Amino acid sequence: MSVPISGPSSQVPDGPVPVPAALRPVLARWGAPPDVAALPAAWVNALGGTTFRLEGPQGTVFCKWAPPGVALDLAGEAVKAGWARRWLPVPEVLEAGADGDGSWLVSAALPGRSAVDPDWIARPEVAVPSLGRALRRWHDELPVQECPFDWSVPFRLERAVGDASALREPPAVDRVVVCHGDACAPNTLLDDATGQAVAWVDLSGVGRGDRWADIAVATMSLDWNYGPGWQEEFLRAYGVGPDPVRTAYYRALWDVGP
Ligand SMILES: Nc1ncnc2c1ncn2[C@@H]1O[C@H](COP(=O)(O)OP(=O)(O)OP(=O)(O)O)[C@@H](O)[C@H]1O
Ligand SMILES: [Mg+2]
Repeated sequence: MSVPISGPSSQVPDGPVPVPAALRPVLARWGAPPDVAALPAAWVNALGGTTFRLEGPQGTVFCKWAPPGVALDLAGEAVKAGWARRWLPVPEVLEAGADGDGSWLVSAALPGRSAVDPDWIARPEVAVPSLGRALRRWHDELPVQECPFDWSVPFRLERAVGDASALREPPAVDRVVVCHGDACAPNTLLDDATGQAVAWVDLSGVGRGDRWADIAVATMSLDWNYGPGWQEEFLRAYGVGPDPVRTAYYRALWDVGP
């Protein structure tokens, strides 16, 4: 992933989305008709990547697809999901691959619904504190000493796609954790009945970093998804006070490529 893709322009599509011809053989392995023209989709991201939902004979699967040239590291995401699954509910990857026509990652359906499902958008007073507790749980439960993936400032600055010259001197590290790497609201799934987080998705950014790298982006995404006014509630539920300096720094870093 080389540019921010979870943003205000990503969305849950209204109806079925056309299936790229190159993806049909992949979907056929999971039970779609070989000539499937369109499928329901959970998400279309800002780069034109789509996550299709397929009710197959082996159960429901989600197929994340990126067109050629889109730098979405689905193979890397599959490795990270396999690691994180030892501790927390994240996608069980069934198949990941790439060819000249794009790349794909097929995973088994997790429980819950995205925190930006219309029902949760209508109930931010439940969804937002739940998202704050969920990020805290992610940071507390994944063992940073065992994490083989990097998401530190130097690692990210090396890969920045925008002008990062103003970001060479980061604020002191608060606490190194296993960051989610894209802690935007759509990437946490909430239980229908309780509103508690039951799963996390979209793991290509997972890696060691300051917890504010996640918190800054998570709070920013609340404005996109629920409107202004929810950031303090999130921080309260996470269990941390506001940190305007680290928040501004990590949002600016996000803007030059997560
Ligand atoms: N295994 C799964 N079980 C349930 N839902 C899933 C699963 N995988 C993906 N989803 C749904 O599909 C959506 C898109 O998946 P994901 O976030 O990985 O795609 P993305 O294009 O990288 O998103 P973003 O635009 O946030 O970067 C998720 O928000 C979630 O609602
Ligand atoms: Mg996502």
